[in-house]
Amino acid sequence: MYCILRAFTDCLSDSLACLLILCAHACPCQLQWYASSFFLLILHVFEVCDDELYPGGSFCPTPMELGRLYSTIGSNLDLYYPPNKRSRSILEAIEGEQHYQEPGIEVLPDECLFEIFRRLPSGKERSLCGCVSKRWLMLMSSICKDEIERITSSVAEKVSPDENQDIEDDGYLTRCLDGKKATDVRLAAIAVGTSSRGGLGKLSIRGNNSVRGVTNVGLSAVAHGCPSLRSLSLWNVSSIGDEGLSQIGKGCHMLEKLDLSHCSSISNKGLIAIAEGCPNMTTLNLESCPNIGNEGLQALARLCPKLQSISIKDCPLVGDHGVSNLLSLASNLSRVKLQALNITDFSLAVICHYGRAITNLVLSGLKNVTERGFWVMGAAQGLQKLVSLTVTSCRGVTDTSIEAIGKGCINLKQMHLRRCCFVTDSGLVAFSKTAVSLESLQLEECNRFTQSGIIVALSNIKTKLRSLTLVKCSGVKDIDMEVSMLSPCESLRSLAIQKCPGFGSSSLAMIGKLCPQLQHLNLSGLYGITDAGLLPLLENCEAGLVNVNLAGCWNLTDNIVSALARLHGGTLEVLNLDGCMKITDASLVTIANNCLVLNDLDVSKCAITDSGVAVLSRASLLSLQVLSLSGCSDVSNKCVPFLTKLGQTLMGLNIQNCNSLSSSTMEFLVEKLWRCDILI
Ligand SMILES: *[C@@H]1O[C@H](CO)[C@@H](O)[C@H](O)[C@H]1NC(C)=O
Ligand SMILES: *[C@@H]1O[C@H](CO)[C@@H](O)[C@H](O)[C@H]1NC(C)=O
Ligand SMILES: *[C@@H]1O[C@H](CO)[C@@H](O)[C@H](O)[C@H]1NC(C)=O
Ligand SMILES: *[C@@H]1O[C@H](CO)[C@@H](O)[C@H](O)[C@H]1NC(C)=O
Ligand SMILES: *[C@@H]1O[C@H](CO)[C@@H](O)[C@H](O)[C@H]1NC(C)=O
Ligand SMILES: *[C@@H]1O[C@H](CO)[C@@H](O)[C@H](O)[C@H]1NC(C)=O
Ligand SMILES: *[C@@H]1O[C@H](CO)[C@@H](O)[C@H](O)[C@H]1NC(C)=O
Ligand SMILES: *[C@@H]1O[C@H](CO)[C@@H](O)[C@H](O)[C@H]1NC(C)=O
Repeated sequence: MYCILRAFTDCLSDSLACLLILCAHACPCQLQWYASSFFLLILHVFEVCDDELYPGGSFCPTPMELGRLYSTIGSNLDLYYPPNKRSRSILEAIEGEQHYQEPGIEVLPDECLFEIFRRLPSGKERSLCGCVSKRWLMLMSSICKDEIERITSSVAEKVSPDENQDIEDDGYLTRCLDGKKATDVRLAAIAVGTSSRGGLGKLSIRGNNSVRGVTNVGLSAVAHGCPSLRSLSLWNVSSIGDEGLSQIGKGCHMLEKLDLSHCSSISNKGLIAIAEGCPNMTTLNLESCPNIGNEGLQALARLCPKLQSISIKDCPLVGDHGVSNLLSLASNLSRVKLQALNITDFSLAVICHYGRAITNLVLSGLKNVTERGFWVMGAAQGLQKLVSLTVTSCRGVTDTSIEAIGKGCINLKQMHLRRCCFVTDSGLVAFSKTAVSLESLQLEECNRFTQSGIIVALSNIKTKLRSLTLVKCSGVKDIDMEVSMLSPCESLRSLAIQKCPGFGSSSLAMIGKLCPQLQHLNLSGLYGITDAGLLPLLENCEAGLVNVNLAGCWNLTDNIVSALARLHGGTLEVLNLDGCMKITDASLVTIANNCLVLNDLDVSKCAITDSGVAVLSRASLLSLQVLSLSGCSDVSNKCVPFLTKLGQTLMGLNIQNCNSLSSSTMEFLVEKLWRCDILI
């Protein structure tokens, strides 16, 4: 704190004489106290004095010190002093005091204050000064880190060895400003306040305050005060433009991650400044930035050799030129996501040729890419490291092109096709024959597949496929097919079929025969299936089912639960019967008698009564941890003792919408079973 006074003397103006006289008479041990008092005296604007600036509040004087402060300024006031309003109450008290003299520092011009401030040695002093007024804060935040350190390092060493405690480490301090809170003042406070705590590592701004929105001024403050910023994310801040981003490029050379979404005032110029200033950039996400185009991407590709991950969505100025430049120069790119862009086959050809490091590729809504573009992806054999491919809404994906992809991308493990309406059974079968590494296949809203395509594909993928997911594939119709000639898919562990209304009992029986090693089954929402349809699958399953989700399969009865419990009770860990209205207490009896490792049971909206709950509470074999009885309207107050017993070992219990349980019962349970997480 000696330094602060020294800084003042360096730039002294007459109007500060009174302060210095005060200091001149002080012994060194009192200096800090004087300095603190000084700040309090001239506290004018409280708006910015949040916890950003003095996290521990430690600089505030104790009441005893305040007493001394008052005697110094000639006051005998006896002051009540609420802890959170210290500063304000002291100010009010002081202002009401006639002996008080305005110190007059505010008459100094900005340049002079600037000179004083940049002589302050540590972040702590700067934080303190930032509390004084909005003017001081904004001035403070305009000082670059370099300017501060160059001048003070020698002084700080000489006069104050303690200052080394403020040495900044590589801390990854994070701040997120949402909507109303996003103002320039707040940003300036962050910039000044975090520097004493290792520096800001990550900043997100989501939307802006419509009255006093964030602008380039606020971002410049961050650029000046946060040289260790690594990650910056701006969503919906149309008020920040190239000028702000350029300052970031000039001040934050360690930036690695930039995420811009709906930033309409930022153009290539801003992105180029980032590329020039931040050679360590690894990740760029751009979404709906109407003024960023090819030139910005080019600069980034040229100047940021460490770029690893890029996602560009819905930027109308980005075209083949930018994407091809980016891909051909950024040789280390491993994750690429291109959505809703005006690019053509040319870009895909470049991706395949240069994208040798790409492991994850997402392509979505590329309306101008044809079959040829996707065919080249495989045929060029460049994507040798590709592990995961997701393609959504691209009409270029056809039978021919997915066959080529299967052949060319020899390491492809995960394939996810969504809304690709030109792929048919023959493409799927051809793909399954060629994709030798495939482990997971997800088909969503691809309506040309039929059940025979899926069955034949399954029997062709013999080695590695572990997971198959079908969602909303309306082409799947329930036909009977002879499968005994097909070879089984021994690798499949996980099957999920959702919202495919045509997928019925015969299909399920066939899958059951074809996939004897299933462990995870998710048929939630397949309301067409019956006991008879599911039974063959349960009987054919050799590995033992672990996780079974039959939510919404409302035609299933106690018979199938009984078969499930008998056949798979030794392995079944999670069972979801939510909404299976025909399931009654009888199912709980077989579960209680056969399931040894079941820990999560959901019988929401089933026909469960008090006696079913009683059965569960008496089951000595069961070790349930989570039970949901939500919407079981026959469960009444009579089962309180059973629930109490169950609740002693349960970690979670859902009794929402159990209309026969009174609210006082629920409250009693919540109170009594305090260790269990109860949803009421
Ligand atoms: C952001 O603030 C500016 C004014 O600074 C305003 O014009 C604009 O509408 C605001 N944007 C949003 C998304 O609120
Ligand atoms: C941006 O703001 C608009 C309203 O101004 C809102 O509808 C939209 O969801 C926001 N987008 C993001 C990415 O926050
Ligand atoms: C970039 O990263 C390297 C290694 O992580 C580091 O040595 C270098 O200082 C960084 N460059 C900048 C400008 O921060
Ligand atoms: C590319 O990435 C690898 C690891 O992901 C890294 O070792 C290598 O240094 C990177 N190359 C460049 C030029 O950054
Ligand atoms: C596709 O390309 C044509 C001609 O090059 C262009 O007119 C059209 O706007 C593009 N479509 C999209 C969705 O970008
Ligand atoms: C798409 O790009 C082509 C040139 O590649 C251009 O002629 C066309 O106008 C662009 N379409 C849109 C909608 O931007
Ligand atoms: C099963 O399907 C439901 C509904 O689509 C989904 O929420 C759930 O995550 C799936 N469960 C598993 C284990 O895949
Ligand atoms: C399934 O149950 C509904 C009524 O819940 C019934 O109309 C339908 O016929 C049943 N389907 C089968 C295949 O049994």
